[in-house]
Amino acid sequence: MTVIARRAAIAALLISVSASAVSAEMAATTTPPEAPKFDAQTEPVYVTRSDIYEYKALPSYSEPAWVTAFVDAGKLPPVAERLPKEPLVYKTANMPDGPGVYGDVMRHVIGGRPEGWNFWAGQSYGWGGIDIGLVECLTRTGPLFTVKAEDLQPMPNLAKSWEWSEDGKTLTIHLIEGAKWSDGDPFDTEDIDFYWNDVILDPEVTPLMGAAEATYNNAKLEITDAYTFNLTFDTAFPESVLYNMAYGNFCPGPSHILKPKHPKHGGESYEAFQKAFPSDMMNFPVMGAWAVVEHRPDDIVVLRRNPYYWKVDETGQQLPYLDEMHYRLSTWGDRDVQAVAGTGDFSNLEQAENYVESLKKAADPASPARLAFGPRTIGYSLYPNLSGNGWGEPDARAQAVRELNRNLDFRKAISYAMDRQRLGESLVKGPFTTPYAGGIYAGTPYYDAASTAFFPYSVDSAKEALKAAGLEDTDGNGFVNLAGGDDLNVTLLTQSDYTTDKNLSEGVVAMMADAGVKVTLNALTGKDFDNARDSGTYDWIMFRNGAELITVVQNTSALAPTGPTTDLNHRANGAGKLDLLPYEEEMVKTVNAFMGSRDPAERLELMKTYQKLYTENLDGIGLTAYPGALIVNKRFANIPAGAPIFMYNWAEDNIIRERVFVPADQQIDAELHPNTLPGELGGAGPVAAN
Ligand code: GLA
Repeated sequence: MTVIARRAAIAALLISVSASAVSAEMAATTTPPEAPKFDAQTEPVYVTRSDIYEYKALPSYSEPAWVTAFVDAGKLPPVAERLPKEPLVYKTANMPDGPGVYGDVMRHVIGGRPEGWNFWAGQSYGWGGIDIGLVECLTRTGPLFTVKAEDLQPMPNLAKSWEWSEDGKTLTIHLIEGAKWSDGDPFDTEDIDFYWNDVILDPEVTPLMGAAEATYNNAKLEITDAYTFNLTFDTAFPESVLYNMAYGNFCPGPSHILKPKHPKHGGESYEAFQKAFPSDMMNFPVMGAWAVVEHRPDDIVVLRRNPYYWKVDETGQQLPYLDEMHYRLSTWGDRDVQAVAGTGDFSNLEQAENYVESLKKAADPASPARLAFGPRTIGYSLYPNLSGNGWGEPDARAQAVRELNRNLDFRKAISYAMDRQRLGESLVKGPFTTPYAGGIYAGTPYYDAASTAFFPYSVDSAKEALKAAGLEDTDGNGFVNLAGGDDLNVTLLTQSDYTTDKNLSEGVVAMMADAGVKVTLNALTGKDFDNARDSGTYDWIMFRNGAELITVVQNTSALAPTGPTTDLNHRANGAGKLDLLPYEEEMVKTVNAFMGSRDPAERLELMKTYQKLYTENLDGIGLTAYPGALIVNKRFANIPAGAPIFMYNWAEDNIIRERVFVPADQQIDAELHPNTLPGELGGAGPVAAN
């Protein structure tokens, strides 16, 4: 059926819709209820970016003695030759515990599974910090939680510096010079060229994250030399692009490995390209501090130190300090359990159901783990699919739901039906959760309560709103019907990997039933969920929100449908067309103006407008927000104070793991492959010096 024919069919289905259906009053919106006081347990030490690291040559460099054995055996060039001309140098003054010592392992536990190593063709590594440790990006944002507001800008990383042309339309980026991939191949603009032209601009290739040209404001790339390139833009100073070059987005892959498999450069096919580096292929070259040397399916992934890592401390010691990384392949819930028990070393405590038990255990002075709550940056929303013109190719039933989703009264009904207090308490009792109106989170820099419309819980109002949307229970079974037909049945897509998602979505189903809307769960795991989300094959979707609603400056283009694929719940149809609702047009204008403005006062005002548009029109329906806690085993040093589990990025980035160490007298004997380094791509795994 064509979109037009489908729309006609829907119009027939909804024939009874009429504005006169509105009768009794709906409850007025309020400002959101005050969140229960919950102070973060540790505060960051605020510094400027240049206090954390700089790029410079040091008089000499060192490495673990067992790595020197590789040099002595002729298997590796000396450390000074492996490092860039001017390595990234972490400053001692900013290290909570000073320069470290080598050795030991950080034992992670994760709920995901690696699909393969072609991140650039969409393969997931299994999350939980594996990808954050393997892939490095042009800029870095995780540590910004500790940066003073007046210096807030992305940190340099593979991009050592950048400057804007006078008219603000050209951004010149200088890469770190002489850095190498973990197999010794030079990192340079060949990698940028491949990433840009054969990943970003190739419509057949969809990277795991980032992807769209819109992420980079539709820039044009021009390479000047091995370490310099320009991006040119239609608008002046699109500075948000620099944030979009951090984790997830502008993280180039090893072109010397990827390119020969790409169909434009002699590779067999796009499918073969995607699958060329399966998860049992070891030693995939990385710019990260560790490379994968072992993978036992459903058991463990082991990483060993990258001998070419391009970061050092001020004493010249090559980083990382930790020689090995473990990722136990288990469940997300088990990550919390193991971290507090001391059999795992790290967890982002984010599933509120585990708070009470974890807190109790961590409060014991003998507990092996340190647990610290941070700001309220974990939040869930329900998003109606707002495409009415065919994204996700809805059938007649789904298209009828889309038409309803595009009706403000229907969205109001969903919001009124949510007893957010009860939803939060169903996860955990106490001062943790708070009702969330949607949009920018309370307690974050761009939040303005007065610009936030909160639809209070009211089943009566929900029913009125349904009526206003033309929906009535015509057969008396408690559920509203589509005109002259079946019960309206909405499917809610959720993640089944997390207990919290499961509990919240079940709560939503029950509350919608009370209001008279039948909702059926479609709970999918990992990649299946991501695929359904990204292809738009859902009526409603519920998930944990991304960083843009916390920081606003990160991933800003995702705050509204500013491009065909930037927005999560409203993307273009197969013909590339977006059918924006009037308020969405306003949101797009506001977000574009925000990205185009360098005036802090104007930016604050624009975000107030955004928040008002978002919450009054229920672009997404906020459910609950709560703080997360970082759990790290007490033996680790250099964990920065006040590191949130999620802000500009996840804690696996925020704590700067390459700078974390374990004092010699506290090291445990947990290395699975001591004294080895990553071997050749496709080789058996780690190799020894002799
Ligand atoms: C998953 C986990 C988060 C975090 C990220 C890192 O999403 O739920 O806590 O570890 O992976 O990518």
